[in-house]
Amino acid sequence: MNNFLEHVPVLLDEILENLRKFKITDGVIIDATFGLGGYSNAILENTNCEVYGFDRDPEVLKYANRLKEKYKKRFNFFQKRFSEIDHMLSKQNYSKKKIKGMIFDLGVSNLQLTKKSRGFSFKLDGPLDMRMSKKGIKALDIINNYSAEKLADIIYKFGDEVFSRRVARHIVKSREINPITSTLELAEIIRKAIPGKKKKIDKATKTFQAIRMFINNEIYELNKGLIVSEKFLSHEGILCVVSFHSKEDKIVKDFLNVCQGKSKSFISKFLPPIQSSNKSFEIITKKPILPSNEEIEINYKARSAKLRIAKRTEFSSVFNREAAA
Ligand SMILES: C[S@@+](CC[C@H](N)C(=O)[O-])C[C@H]1O[C@@H](n2cnc3c(N)ncnc32)[C@H](O)[C@@H]1O
Repeated sequence: MNNFLEHVPVLLDEILENLRKFKITDGVIIDATFGLGGYSNAILENTNCEVYGFDRDPEVLKYANRLKEKYKKRFNFFQKRFSEIDHMLSKQNYSKKKIKGMIFDLGVSNLQLTKKSRGFSFKLDGPLDMRMSKKGIKALDIINNYSAEKLADIIYKFGDEVFSRRVARHIVKSREINPITSTLELAEIIRKAIPGKKKKIDKATKTFQAIRMFINNEIYELNKGLIVSEKFLSHEGILCVVSFHSKEDKIVKDFLNVCQGKSKSFISKFLPPIQSSNKSFEIITKKPILPSNEEIEINYKARSAKLRIAKRTEFSSVFNREAAA
């Protein structure tokens, strides 16, 4: 376990093991989801690689500064979204270095989830915020202003919630009396809207996930991040993606299928047209790597994690470059 930042990174041993297996010992690794820096710190400790850490959340800066102090030139941090990495790497001299790994550990960090004021958790009483970047529209704005139809679409599309219409109707009914301002208030409205007894998984889970994904434009961002990995990883560099729910995992699988030159994307409107039948990635994990029982025991959050790994081939990008930009 990594105690450096009092955070337990998910599937970290498996990632380090694969870096070793694929001889990623130098060059640059992009940690696209820096969070509390658990992955970055372990990579800097266990390899001779440089790390470029990216995260859209301004609150992670203090953790990034600690690593900068410790590892100096071997570590650089950029407060940017996945969709800005391409521009960042192209603009600077950064792309001259060999990028040998790119890692995504999707979703929210413990830092975000456990801080009431960020409004991500349906278990803690906080304002309806949910913005990873602390910029743009808040959950409060959509919950109190969007029509029932629009809310239901979001809850269904991003949360796979079969009771999306009921949930949306209850939200609208409730806000007609008083604006909905807190996470606990919203969670209670959702629980009441969904029929049936209390379940093992909280009834508010799917709706909270959906709103968070919508607010943070997560599907678009993930597609953009994956395209960047295909563009910048050097030959034999590896892509590692840890996802936490089926929506994310499907996007990763779909992207890797498209990079096999076999199929066009059926689920993503964000992947640009394909111009080649070459395989730009070799899929290493036909089935995703799952956390061990020991890991789940230590860190319950890990239970739904899936790690997919792919290795960049020598072929150039399968995407139409201009459309990808
Ligand atoms: C699960 S945490 C990563 C934890 C990290 N691996 C660690 O060991 O501390 C995910 C992080 O990714 C960031 N993130 C999510 N989507 C992002 C995006 N589109 N662009 C940049 N950062 C993003 C979140 O702000 C969050 O800090």
